[in-house]
Amino acid sequence: MEIITKRFLLRDFIPADEAAFLTYHAEPGYAEFCAPEEVTPNFTRKLLQRFNEWAIEHPRRNYQLAIVDRRSSELIGCGGLRREGYGSGQAELGVELAPQFWGRYAFAIEVGKALIEFGFRDLGLTEIRSISISANLRVSRLLERYGFVLIGTPPSPAWMRARGWHQTEWQLTRETWEKY
Ligand SMILES: CC(C)(COP(=O)(O)OP(=O)(O)OC[C@H]1O[C@@H](n2cnc3c(N)ncnc32)[C@H](O)[C@@H]1OP(=O)(O)O)[C@@H](O)C(=O)NCCC(=O)NCCS
Repeated sequence: MEIITKRFLLRDFIPADEAAFLTYHAEPGYAEFCAPEEVTPNFTRKLLQRFNEWAIEHPRRNYQLAIVDRRSSELIGCGGLRREGYGSGQAELGVELAPQFWGRYAFAIEVGKALIEFGFRDLGLTEIRSISISANLRVSRLLERYGFVLIGTPPSPAWMRARGWHQTEWQLTRETWEKY
């Protein structure tokens, strides 16, 4: 499974990605919008296991791909579309970058567009959702850029409420995307 953009290759994870994936997940900046248990090495290794299981599912429902710099082959983040837990025609979009790349080079803008196109064109989706956190303004800006609209506030875990934040749910329909 591969998606190629101007600067990146999005592909399934390989064992050699583990070190870089663990490294950026352990960076202090990364932890800002995560529950404490989500940034332990054990949690991060389990995430990789789950992505690998998703990669061999038949039929495939979930895509969580490594974002690799085409020139340096460096792992700079991950992103994907997950249909698990959603109705037919729907999937959830997620993109994350290693913190040193945040707000600098429009990497997420490029990767987000490629994943949205993959979802509507290749997977035949009619609707893409995304779940974020009220305080995560980088995610809000990225989603709004592509025409996502806020559709709700799902129940939030206690650690999030303790910080005065809540979950936000976003939606982009194929119709909106096509008009975009
Ligand atoms: C969500 C996330 C990927 C968004 O990253 P981002 O850095 O805002 O997105 P981009 O790389 O696309 O950068 C956008 C910035 O690129 C810059 N930019 C825009 N167009 C540009 C261009 N043509 N050329 C260069 N830079 C440009 C702008 O400064 C823009 O910032 P702005 O939206 O404030 O104006 C990132 O914040 C992230 O990985 N967060 C962690 C994920 C997360 O919170 N997970 C929770 C885990 S528990």
